[in-house]
Amino acid sequence: MSARRFPRDFLLGCASAAHQVEGGNDNDWARWERDHPERIADGSSSQDACDHYRRYRDDLTALAALHQNAHRFSVEWSRVEKEPGCFDRGALNHYADVVRTCRELGMEPVVTLHHFTFPVWLAARGGAAHADAPRLFARYAAACATAFGSDITWWITINEPAVLACQAHLTGEWPPGERSLRSTLATLRGLLRMHAAAYHALHAVALRNGSPARVSIAHHERRLTTRRGRHLDRLAARLPDVLFNRWFLRCCASGRLLPPLGDAPPLPGLRDSLDYIGLNYYCEDTVRFDRTSPQTLFTGRVSEPGRVLSDFGWPIDAPGLRSAIDALWGEFRLPILITENGVADSRDALRPAYIADHLNAVLDAIDDGADVRGYLHWTAWDNFEWAEGYTKRFGLYAVDRTTQERTPRPSAALYAGICATGEVPGVRSSARELGRPG
Ligand code: GCO
Repeated sequence: MSARRFPRDFLLGCASAAHQVEGGNDNDWARWERDHPERIADGSSSQDACDHYRRYRDDLTALAALHQNAHRFSVEWSRVEKEPGCFDRGALNHYADVVRTCRELGMEPVVTLHHFTFPVWLAARGGAAHADAPRLFARYAAACATAFGSDITWWITINEPAVLACQAHLTGEWPPGERSLRSTLATLRGLLRMHAAAYHALHAVALRNGSPARVSIAHHERRLTTRRGRHLDRLAARLPDVLFNRWFLRCCASGRLLPPLGDAPPLPGLRDSLDYIGLNYYCEDTVRFDRTSPQTLFTGRVSEPGRVLSDFGWPIDAPGLRSAIDALWGEFRLPILITENGVADSRDALRPAYIADHLNAVLDAIDDGADVRGYLHWTAWDNFEWAEGYTKRFGLYAVDRTTQERTPRPSAALYAGICATGEVPGVRSSARELGRPG
């Protein structure tokens, strides 16, 4: 297949998150790492991470040299508001300068306000489930929007709310380590309210600034398929699909707390609170009914022989990205920005084909009429991968953990070529063949 091309103004860049790259943060995650090193795969902490808080200018300059025209990063709430109501001018200036630097380098900033971490003072009061969390989050969002001026179009209020609620309150793998359906639901409701409050706070500042703010969440879509036609297997794929992949988005679109996780009158300000959909897509799982797994709603993952897996064990499936886009575009008719897509692959054996295949899937969806505005690869630098510590390498750059030296992997050059020309090489191979020697 010959090369195909993205529209001229298509955004192509990388995505990152403050806690995973900055180093030196003090928030609920930092305390968790300190108090429970046994919960982090390699016992490591985020304290050094990629030292990106100090090195951001050099790091961003390097990405611009790879012809990237967009960059997603997150603001660390715990730096900006160390105590409730006390906004740190130095931290706000820092992020304002990140925005300015992106602009000067020709990269469109995509700003996330909440990427999995809470300030300690809010975590101690229950995090998202605290009754005042929406007001506090909106006040922080307004402080950021005011400090960054009229420069931001693309805002993400909350990264992967469903993942955050489940990992922190259902499986207990992330702070505060709870295993409670009740607090999972309370957190989801709280995150919805936080999103709605920040959506309006950002738009209020944008109106004053005359900036064309577009606000959304970054939604994690875990595609689920079943190879067997059994009714129970189909149900095992369907139920988590509705709850995990659609519930939050549908609540934001309809303005209501929808069943089965609630059935309440409209929440103030929630309706139509997505201006676009931020889509994080990594893989597609094959699942079946598993009577022994009530905690996953009786859904069990099936490992299929011959399927290529990332270092994370996630099955690679580029067509799944196209079906995710098709499904979201079909249902919501909102522009889509791919806010994350990438692969844990320390040898860079899978990544070049992964990038080409997934970008071709995006082009297929665009050809079919979907309104996709950009693609942000996860990620630029090997970083702190939450409970996996530094064991999973998603970077276009390898990062030496002692010297912090960044070394581009071959896929950095491949992606740079795509960013420079907008042209995507033909599909490299089917997912099943990917990474096979010879
Ligand atoms: C997520 C996050 C990122 C991860 C990335 C790789 O999806 O969990 O947004 O913080 O690092 O997805 O797992």
